[in-house]
Amino acid sequence: MIQTNYPPQHVAIIMDGNGRWANNRGLPRLVGHEAGGKNIRPVVKIFADYGVKYLTLYAFSTENWTRPRAEVAGLLSLLGKKIDQETQTFHQENIRLVHLGRLDKLSNRLREKMKAAVELTKNNTGLTLCLAFDYGGRDEIVQAARRMAGAGIPGDNIDESVFARYLYTTDIPNPDLVIRTGGETRLSNFLLWQAAYSELYFIPVLWPDFGHKDVEEALSEYRRRQRRFGKI
Ligand code: FPP
Repeated sequence: MIQTNYPPQHVAIIMDGNGRWANNRGLPRLVGHEAGGKNIRPVVKIFADYGVKYLTLYAFSTENWTRPRAEVAGLLSLLGKKIDQETQTFHQENIRLVHLGRLDKLSNRLREKMKAAVELTKNNTGLTLCLAFDYGGRDEIVQAARRMAGAGIPGDNIDESVFARYLYTTDIPNPDLVIRTGGETRLSNFLLWQAAYSELYFIPVLWPDFGHKDVEEALSEYRRRQRRFGKI
C-alpha cells in the first residue's frame, strides 16, 4: 500500500551537523550554527511549496545548556538575531510562529522577543513554523503533568487526549515525518510523545547543506512507507 496522506502534514527536523560543517572548513563551531541558521528560511520555503502545513525545527535542547558557555551564548544570540531578522518576513508570508519549550531560563529580552513574534503571527493561516528552543521531550511531559496537577485535574480524568492538550504542541498535529540530518540515528529527546508513530528518516547530510534534493528524497521515501499505527 502506498502512502495516502501525502504530502505529510507535519515534518519535524533535528538540525544536526553544524559543528562538523564548520570543523570541516577549519572554522569555529558558531560559524556552523550561523550557516545552519541561514538555511532555515530556504528550507521553510521548500517544505511550504510541497504543501507541508507544519514544520518543527529543533534549535536548542534542554541538554544543550551543558555545551561550552561561549557556544550557548552564541546560540542564544543567534536566536535573538533570527527573530529580529525573520519575524516580519515570516509574518508577510502568512507564517505562524510557535515556540515549543521553556521560556523561564531565557533572558527577559529574549523571552519577550520570542513571545512578541508568536503573538504577532498567531492568526496567520499559512505554514505553522514551530521552533523547539530549550525544548526537551521528557521535560515537556513532566511540565504537562505538573500543569495538570496544578489545575487540579483528577487522575481518573486524565487520558491521552487530555494529556496531549497540556503539551507544548496543544493544537499541533503529531509529526508524520521526523528527519535527522548529520548521520546520527537517535531522537535525542525530541518530541518523544508526539513522534510515537512518526516515520523516521536519517541522512548523513550536515544541516547547513540540507537542500531541495534532500527534501525531495525524504518526501519520496516517506511516500513509500506504509503507516499502520499498530494495525496490520
Ligand atoms: C546541532 O548541531 C545543532 C544545534 C545544537 C543547533 C541548531 C541551531 C541552528 C540550526 C541554527 C540556529 C537557529 C536558531 C533559531 C537559534 P551540532 O552542533 O550538534 O553539530 P555537530 O553534531 O556536528 O557537532
